[in-house]
Amino acid sequence: MARLGRVLLLLTTCLGLLGTAGCGDDYDGLVIGVVLPMTGPQATYGEESWNGLQLAEADLRQAGTNIKFKLVLKDEKSTPQEAQTQAKTLMELEGAHVLLGSVASSNTKTIAGAAKENGTPCITPASTNDNLTTGNPWLSRICYKDSVQGGVLATFALSNGWKRAAVCVDNESDYSRGFADNFKGAFEAAGGTTHFEYFKAGNADYSNVIQGVADANPDVIFISGYYEDGGPMIKQAKARWEGKPVIGGDGLDSAEFLTLIGDAQNPIYFSTHFAPDAPDEPAVKAFAERYRERFGKEPGAMAALGYDVLFVLMDAAKRCANPKSAAELNTAIGATKNVKGITGLISLDNPDRTPNKPLVIVKVEGGAKKFHSTIKP
Ligand code: PHE
Repeated sequence: MARLGRVLLLLTTCLGLLGTAGCGDDYDGLVIGVVLPMTGPQATYGEESWNGLQLAEADLRQAGTNIKFKLVLKDEKSTPQEAQTQAKTLMELEGAHVLLGSVASSNTKTIAGAAKENGTPCITPASTNDNLTTGNPWLSRICYKDSVQGGVLATFALSNGWKRAAVCVDNESDYSRGFADNFKGAFEAAGGTTHFEYFKAGNADYSNVIQGVADANPDVIFISGYYEDGGPMIKQAKARWEGKPVIGGDGLDSAEFLTLIGDAQNPIYFSTHFAPDAPDEPAVKAFAERYRERFGKEPGAMAALGYDVLFVLMDAAKRCANPKSAAELNTAIGATKNVKGITGLISLDNPDRTPNKPLVIVKVEGGAKKFHSTIKP
């Protein structure tokens, strides 16, 4: 009875503190703040990344790490404003020593801005926009960038004999705009021509962009954007895009995409970071099996990137005398060399702290995603 009393007392003290400064204030380990879209249109990205992070955490704990750490997750609700608010909350109220996040480049941009202002290291698992790491030494990433992805996609299209591309762009998204420009630069330099059409994210009716693309009569349609727009666009385009090939990037890589396109018959290819069915990749296969077992779902790119980002961070932390020192941890992250990830070998010891990794091309066929090829840029 006395014991129960003590537990209750502890619990109420804790809850009382929670209302003011937070119960974890005396935590003496490394606080890893995680900002992800757990709700809103990009929620499937958030869910997958968090699953990957949890799997990595379990593996690290099982292997036994000398570094005491905890993950604190905040939902950025798929908006740049909320991403910034949550990043600040983590740094100012939760004592985060480092931030991980987010997925959409526009959202990572606001997180990285806050991290820079505060002098806190930040690693994005998935944001590919080139400009993010320019002029911000506090941000690193473990994915390739869009000038690379755009170049690979341009070469892929031309090698299929597709010389005239219609490009669908959302001008308000850093990812969409940057990626489209990167593609255009590479595609035109190699002899292709492009025609740009603009759409608005979350616009339930894509008939303008669909008609504009149809009128341009291209060889290939490049959707520079996310699955929540690309999916419905392809579905609505149906007859008007006459079974023409559609290409895209990692933004199309979501399980939801397959549902959203309905029964569209266009050949669809997209570049991404990981395919669970990649042949001759035992580490990928093992990861996919464990992910299915634990979460009952097929892992996408975000799952693998979420897994890798925690390993990169802990590899850097291990090289620090004091991982809680922002400057020391940031320098260690920037010195990352050959960390073996599920998505490839990760080295960040270059001016924009971005790895040079292979891309995976996936083909959508018969309502399923199928590994097509691996391209080393
Ligand atoms: N690369 C995208 C961006 O920068 C995010 C993304 C990564 C989406 C991986 C899907 C898979 O906005």
